Amino acid sequence: MVSSTAFLAGEYIAVETYSLSVFYGETQAVKDVSLPIARNRVTALIGPSGCGKSTFLRCLNRLNDRIPGFRMEGRVRVLDVDPYGKQVDLIELRRRVGMVFQKPTPLPMSIYDNVAIGARSHYGLRGKKLDEVVEQALQRAALWDEVKDILKRPALQLSGGQQQRLCIARMLAVEPEVILMDEPCSALDPISTFRIEELMIDLAKDHTVIVVTHNMQQAARVSDYTAFFMYGELVEYDSSKQLFLSPRQKATEDYISGRFG
Ligand SMILES: Nc1ncnc2c1ncn2[C@@H]1O[C@H](COP(=O)(O)OP(=O)(O)OP(=O)(O)O)[C@@H](O)[C@H]1O
Ligand SMILES: [Mg+2]
Repeated sequence: MVSSTAFLAGEYIAVETYSLSVFYGETQAVKDVSLPIARNRVTALIGPSGCGKSTFLRCLNRLNDRIPGFRMEGRVRVLDVDPYGKQVDLIELRRRVGMVFQKPTPLPMSIYDNVAIGARSHYGLRGKKLDEVVEQALQRAALWDEVKDILKRPALQLSGGQQQRLCIARMLAVEPEVILMDEPCSALDPISTFRIEELMIDLAKDHTVIVVTHNMQQAARVSDYTAFFMYGELVEYDSSKQLFLSPRQKATEDYISGRFG
């Protein structure tokens, strides 16, 4: 349905889908979506519940693969590789394409180990070098000051907002290039939400950030580009400024002004 992506002129496309369709058995969750996504920008995916946002996002790092009945048509390109290609190393793909979920998912281990785990396994880091990576990741995730004296404590003792920033630090420690976020703030209070929003803007200086959100203010505040989905279809895709200030489609206008969804 989207006719032109001229608004992306000058951007380097880091992630792209071509006529992507996704099925779960009989249900078609994503319908023929072609979506180029700009590198080192924040792109928001919005739309009513069940419109296929999470499904779309999960296709980018192959998190749908094991769902019974999952089937995909079309193509995906992420950082110049086809994640569904035969040669693909899934572990490396998921390092390069990190994901943050709606509910924080800290591992049942210390704060330190939550951040260190990936850097140990991917890069074999130990000792001082590992300490440095852990500190840097926690600094970048705006959590260091709150946890620097309690690194040995179980991560599960942190608040929800702290746990979410810890999960972001865990991801950053393995140096991803693309960051997928599926409603990362929906379980958080306004202050924690604000911090994660600031973080998204900061991360987009050197990461491609793709975020699903139900919060229109958030999408308008943090994203450079916004894609509006409905019933699995991409209805409108534009710069966030254009999409929120003067949407071209009636359905987009109705949705962003709260008339449905
Ligand atoms: N594991 C699954 N098995 C079968 N159908 C699924 C599965 N996950 C999602 N679906 C279906 O696919 C469609 C899209 O779901 P999806 O979770 O991608 O929507 P969404 O836009 O992320 O919604 P929400 O805003 O509620 O998170 C829905 O019809 C849903 O019922
Ligand atoms: Mg979802």
